[in-house]
Amino acid sequence: MGRPAEILKIDRHTNAEMSFKLGAHIQGIPGQFVIVSLAQVGEIPISISGFSSTGVEITFRKVGKVTSELSHLKAGDELYLRGPYGKGFPLECFESQRLLVIAGGTGVAAIKPLVEYCLHDDKHKIKKLDVLLGFRSPKHILFRKELKRWEKNCGVVITVDTTEDETEAWAGGIGFVVDFVKHVSDIGPKTKVVIVGPPLMIKNTVRELIHHDVRDDNIWTSLERHMKCGVGKCGHCRIRDKYVCLDGPVFNYVEATSLID
Ligand SMILES: Cc1cc2nc3c(=O)[nH]c(=O)nc-3n(C[C@H](O)[C@H](O)[C@H](O)COP(=O)(O)OP(=O)(O)OC[C@H]3O[C@@H](n4cnc5c(N)ncnc54)[C@H](O)[C@@H]3O)c2cc1C
Ligand code: FES
Repeated sequence: MGRPAEILKIDRHTNAEMSFKLGAHIQGIPGQFVIVSLAQVGEIPISISGFSSTGVEITFRKVGKVTSELSHLKAGDELYLRGPYGKGFPLECFESQRLLVIAGGTGVAAIKPLVEYCLHDDKHKIKKLDVLLGFRSPKHILFRKELKRWEKNCGVVITVDTTEDETEAWAGGIGFVVDFVKHVSDIGPKTKVVIVGPPLMIKNTVRELIHHDVRDDNIWTSLERHMKCGVGKCGHCRIRDKYVCLDGPVFNYVEATSLID
């Protein structure tokens, strides 16, 4: 079941998405995940969306049994955590390189610690960082406070699929992230790219990146599979000879395509 972790703070981003700041000190790297347990309800994998001196942050979308129960918890309540698990982003490959990070919807939770690492770590400085994020509509935007901070320190493009039924005036892009790749400057064969989001978004965006001469072996993504143990024992996440919980969830795109075909 793991160790108990107190919910220190809850940030409600949208009707269905929220972040918990947890009083659990976990040393991990961006891209890793934890298994979150609720007694008598179940266990689910969730990416670590932030590391801080007070503990870790997780961010989830209410989609089913466990996430609905989680959404009813309050600050001061406890849940259980195991991890960190899995392989995170290959930080050494990004050192002194030009990096483009692309994410959609709750996928932004998985790339948030990577962007924060790149912006704060002077030793392994990234040459140039751009972040391209897509959300369903302005009211679905996550991490508004953090995005404002990122905008001061790197290139940030935010797009929404639609502004229909919105009361908020929207000055950003409208369309899918794939349509905004062309607005990012200096993309080429040496650009390293991280993409996290729905499979179709990843597929279309990779096609556009390759059109801009990005090499497919310079692209990494994070795969979501149903998981149980998180440690390579139960076989739930197995695709051929790979265990997504152990060998991933972050994979180089060349390997990822052979797994999801
Ligand atoms: C490595 C990893 C990291 C993840 N990180 C996050 C995160 O940061 N934030 C977040 O909101 N979610 C994340 N997920 C997905 C999350 O684990 C599922 O949303 C969660 O398991 C749903 O549990 P539930 O009991 O609420 O829903 P259930 O009652 O189990 O299912 C509700 C619906 O969601 C579908 N579903 C359940 N699990 C998945 C899944 N893994 N992929 C696709 N569809 C699924 C079911 O088929 C069903 O249709 C991650 C998954 C993995 C494998
Ligand atoms: S989740 Fe059990 S083997 Fe990966």
